[in-house]
Amino acid sequence: MVERAFELLDNKQTTRVENIYLSPVASYTCKDWLAQEKDILFKKYPLLVAFSCDLPRVGDFLTNDDTGVPILLVRDRTGGINAFYNTCRHRGAQLAKGCGRAQSGLTCPYHAWTYDFTGALKIVPDQVSFPGVDKAEHGLIKLPVIEKYGMIWVCPTAGEDFDIDAQLGGLNNGFVEDLQSYQFENYHPYAQRRLHCKMNWKLMLDTFLEAYHFAPLHATTVGPLLHHNLCLLDTYGQNLREAVIRKSIDKQRDQPKESWDIVPDSALVYLLFPNSGLVMQRDHVELWRSYPLDGKPNECIVQMDYYIPEPAETASAKDHWERNMDLAVRTVLEEDIPGVEGIQRGLSSGAISHSTFGRNEPALIHFQREVAKAIGRD
Ligand code: FES
Ligand SMILES: [Fe+2]
Repeated sequence: MVERAFELLDNKQTTRVENIYLSPVASYTCKDWLAQEKDILFKKYPLLVAFSCDLPRVGDFLTNDDTGVPILLVRDRTGGINAFYNTCRHRGAQLAKGCGRAQSGLTCPYHAWTYDFTGALKIVPDQVSFPGVDKAEHGLIKLPVIEKYGMIWVCPTAGEDFDIDAQLGGLNNGFVEDLQSYQFENYHPYAQRRLHCKMNWKLMLDTFLEAYHFAPLHATTVGPLLHHNLCLLDTYGQNLREAVIRKSIDKQRDQPKESWDIVPDSALVYLLFPNSGLVMQRDHVELWRSYPLDGKPNECIVQMDYYIPEPAETASAKDHWERNMDLAVRTVLEEDIPGVEGIQRGLSSGAISHSTFGRNEPALIHFQREVAKAIGRD
């Protein structure tokens, strides 16, 4: 990748595809389009719901309501991870809220039915009032879940088993190898931000998928650190890896080729189809997830999780990460998001019928086409 970056730099090039792509505005504004995306992408696909380090110990749990299906993740006594509908078998109450560590089991706040960490129903208070109700048949309803590469994926429909490696484009490809090499299982959650944005859910991911906006939009933040309009792209099935290049890469020219390393002098964006973007930023990783809201093509929930390789214990470590976070947050929250919310208002106004993606925006084109294909609208 370093070699490819130097080649492009030396020839004043970027990765270009053959043709421009006209992306219909309906993809960002149409309620039927969104309904299909919700039914297919947010119901039938494996979605990245957490890093393993979000639930390191027995009894750790985490909930997610963003797909429209209430999801509950729990780590059990064997160290395995379980996913359930966060729905009590008595009368359907929400079993757990937020995240935390349960001591001995999961007790419903409504009438105190209690389940163990594998979802088995253990306690029914006043059980004589439930004749014929067999505890063995009233465990929590499981959702398909896979934990691999320090990450956890759930499909929000019972019975829809999945093969995560197939979804990531197959084993032994650069994508899976990269994810494995970072050893995210050893990372630590540092911070989290949740935002309600006035934009289509895809626009949030679009903002990471081209380097053409760096110089104008990020003139005073990350613009000066990055090569403008330069990206490397590799696609893996519906997913992609895009590298944008830091100007600091030049110092590697003097070093032997065997020691070249793309990670310190780039930002690597991994789009995990459909709705997650991992951004590897040298010494930490940001996970950006975007979720549509029912019936609202022009709104989304964005969650950013910031993971670091060592726990931030000392004052100087905390200071380092705060400053780092501040740059990420300022760039995205104060520049990208307002810019993209402006795009959404423009698209919603009906002024234009399509967006024009340039040959120099190949990652954007790949993502849009894969979404359109997945819902049968390519
Ligand atoms: S709804 Fe959970 S115990 Fe009644
Ligand atoms: Fe940006």
